[in-house]
Amino acid sequence: MFTSNSFAIHFLLLPLIAFSVLSAGKSLPPQVLSWSSKTYGPNGPWNAITISIGSSPSSPPQAVDLLPGGQWMTNVISPSVCAANTDACGIPKSAGFYDQNSSDSVTSISNTGQIYPNTQMASVTGALPSLTGEAFWMFDTIAFSARPGTGGEPGAVVIANFDLLVLAEALEELPDGTKYPVQVGKLALGAPHFNQTWSHIPDPVPWNGTLLTSALFGSGRTSSNSYGMHLGSAALGIPGSLNLGGYDQNRVLGPVSSQPYTLDHFPIDLLDIGIGVAEGESPYSFTKQSGLLAAGNSSIGVAMTVFVEATVPYIYLPQSACDAITKNLPVIFKPNLGLYLWDTTSPRYQSIVSSPAFLSFTFRLSNSVSQNLTINVPFALLNLTLTAPILSQPAPYFPLRPDQGPSSSFTLGRAFMQAAFVGVNWQDDVEGNGLWFLAQAPGPNTPSNPTPVAISPTDNTITASTVDWKDTWKGTWKLVESPSNTTTSGNSTSGSSSESPSSTPSAPKSPRLSKGAIAGIAIAVVLGLAGAVGVAFFIWRRQRKNSKPKPQLSTNGPDPLGEAPPRFPTSREEYRSSGYGPRELDAGNESFHKPYKPEPSSESDLGNGAHQQSLRATTPGSFPIEMAG
Ligand SMILES: *[C@@H]1O[C@H](CO)[C@@H](O)[C@H](O)[C@H]1NC(C)=O
Ligand SMILES: *[C@@H]1O[C@H](CO)[C@@H](O)[C@H](O)[C@H]1NC(C)=O
Ligand SMILES: *[C@@H]1O[C@H](CO)[C@@H](O)[C@H](O)[C@H]1NC(C)=O
Ligand SMILES: *[C@@H]1O[C@H](CO)[C@@H](O)[C@H](O)[C@H]1NC(C)=O
Ligand SMILES: *[C@@H]1O[C@H](CO)[C@@H](O)[C@H](O)[C@H]1NC(C)=O
Ligand SMILES: *[C@@H]1O[C@H](CO)[C@@H](O)[C@H](O)[C@H]1NC(C)=O
Ligand SMILES: *[C@@H]1O[C@H](CO)[C@@H](O)[C@H](O)[C@H]1NC(C)=O
Ligand SMILES: *[C@@H]1O[C@H](CO)[C@@H](O)[C@H](O)[C@H]1NC(C)=O
Repeated sequence: MFTSNSFAIHFLLLPLIAFSVLSAGKSLPPQVLSWSSKTYGPNGPWNAITISIGSSPSSPPQAVDLLPGGQWMTNVISPSVCAANTDACGIPKSAGFYDQNSSDSVTSISNTGQIYPNTQMASVTGALPSLTGEAFWMFDTIAFSARPGTGGEPGAVVIANFDLLVLAEALEELPDGTKYPVQVGKLALGAPHFNQTWSHIPDPVPWNGTLLTSALFGSGRTSSNSYGMHLGSAALGIPGSLNLGGYDQNRVLGPVSSQPYTLDHFPIDLLDIGIGVAEGESPYSFTKQSGLLAAGNSSIGVAMTVFVEATVPYIYLPQSACDAITKNLPVIFKPNLGLYLWDTTSPRYQSIVSSPAFLSFTFRLSNSVSQNLTINVPFALLNLTLTAPILSQPAPYFPLRPDQGPSSSFTLGRAFMQAAFVGVNWQDDVEGNGLWFLAQAPGPNTPSNPTPVAISPTDNTITASTVDWKDTWKGTWKLVESPSNTTTSGNSTSGSSSESPSSTPSAPKSPRLSKGAIAGIAIAVVLGLAGAVGVAFFIWRRQRKNSKPKPQLSTNGPDPLGEAPPRFPTSREEYRSSGYGPRELDAGNESFHKPYKPEPSSESDLGNGAHQQSLRATTPGSFPIEMAG
């Protein structure tokens, strides 16, 4: 089909040029993004960010709300997603569609290929992993509102040739086979590479799809190719926080864990899961429990590698761990949904979701053998709501799914990230490697005025605030009465007297995009990313059918401590039919990218197959795309 002509090249590079140019340069404040006033389901509510895409003389830029997170291509929904499902579309119109036919600034190139109808997107790096459908790569100008962390008015940021995956048909599937169209796209937050670069036959100049964090860094607006994010809680009114080139220190509490990322994921070793109570009495018959991760499952050893992923909604854990966690919870498992509904008739439901009780996740701290980091997720954050099209009558649910996530790994999704700070410094060394950061995020009692801190190109950790996590929840949760009181009274006083966290004082929402800043932005503004000077070095490789066998790779990625093999997909064959070529597979199977050492080279090396082959061995990032026929 598409095989022989379809390939992409990948650029490795500029990190180092930019790195060396800018690491000596001045520190710029982070750029703080504004959040939409609207929130989205159907398994949230989730906070979103508004961007506008494209423009033409006849139609205004198209405003779309997107959930921030994930790498590589930003995923936007085409109106055709609804056309194909007119009966049950139910996409909130407010989330917005992107129609490339209404934009004059869009480019598509033949070499990107497409995701074919009915393809599982999980194996396509940068696509929303839970979807099946059809999609196209396109490049268009985007604009959004950001303000410098040092204060001042929000301004419009414009990025040309932004890397988009336009979802023409995109379905989520419930465990019972029911399908529904995706409700909202994702705003990708950079990638291990500066641009996503494609060959552009017959044009000898490769084509670059630009990415959010690197575009701001490359244009000299931020100190580094990095970001810091706390999704917040739409239900409890904790506004989201997204800083490019830095982070809001108010959103980072306690120890910070730094570890390598992979091509498309943020893996970390999960050591344990527990239940605890921050203060007062316990709503349980116990005050503390641990050992829930490995309970009743001898195959889970000291640790289990999980992904932390903002592109999926739930907390995906083994059945055994879910059983241990839910054993003492008033929840009812719904096999058709693969989720647990809260038993709202139980008096313990109100008591637990309004109490200072939390689910705790203990991780290996910065790849240490002996130190750990615990992130507490109060049950108040785990009282989310299922709405249409998943359930016609909204119902509170506990966002735990006893299964692997769509990326075939156990995954902590957005539900977890309501309580976690996640950041990345995409390149913190001259070789272009970087680290991602995980820390406890605060509760509703957080200053609405941020404390922005820049991430410098060489930073391999970030500095937390000294605030005590408990204090950020004070006044929001309701202390539990002593158990004898609740058991003897026989009726639930806690239900009626409990304060709803959503009605308690909380930080106000961030200001919306203001002053029409993003409207009417000129079409052809092109970012001057050309500031980076120096030797560009890239790899170009024509993908052939039946390409050479790849170097042997173990089915599991290397684990630095040899304790818990990451659960990467083991079958490369399964990928062959799903759109990605061997180089991509190999990259995906490398759990931690290795430094690449570009040899002195010049463009005359292009097309020199032998040379490329030898480079490929040390350049996991190059991923020509093979559309399997
Ligand atoms: C990224 O792509 C932009 C737009 O094509 C280009 O100006 C810039 O030089 C590229 N940067 C790198 C590091 O490849
Ligand atoms: C855009 O136009 C093309 C060609 O007319 C058409 O096939 C496609 O369906 C249109 N896309 C949308 C989203 O309307
Ligand atoms: C893409 O980036 C590379 C590396 O910076 C550059 O050589 C090339 O000219 C860029 N392509 C376009 C179309 O700007
Ligand atoms: C036990 O844990 C493994 C992961 O180590 C998981 O694949 C398996 O499904 C778990 N078994 C049960 C019964 O949950
Ligand atoms: C985490 O570290 C503390 C202090 O060293 C230790 O007591 C605890 O057992 C560790 N927890 C896990 C799950 O390893
Ligand atoms: C739990 O969530 C529901 C919405 O599904 C909300 O109405 C209710 O007030 C929440 N309960 C508590 C205690 O926050
Ligand atoms: C029940 O709670 C009230 C106040 O919350 C307290 O005064 C009383 O002593 C408690 N009774 C028991 C039996 O614990
Ligand atoms: C609930 O408890 C209160 C005080 O303990 C009591 O006055 C009331 O009658 C009880 N209601 C029911 C329905 O048992």
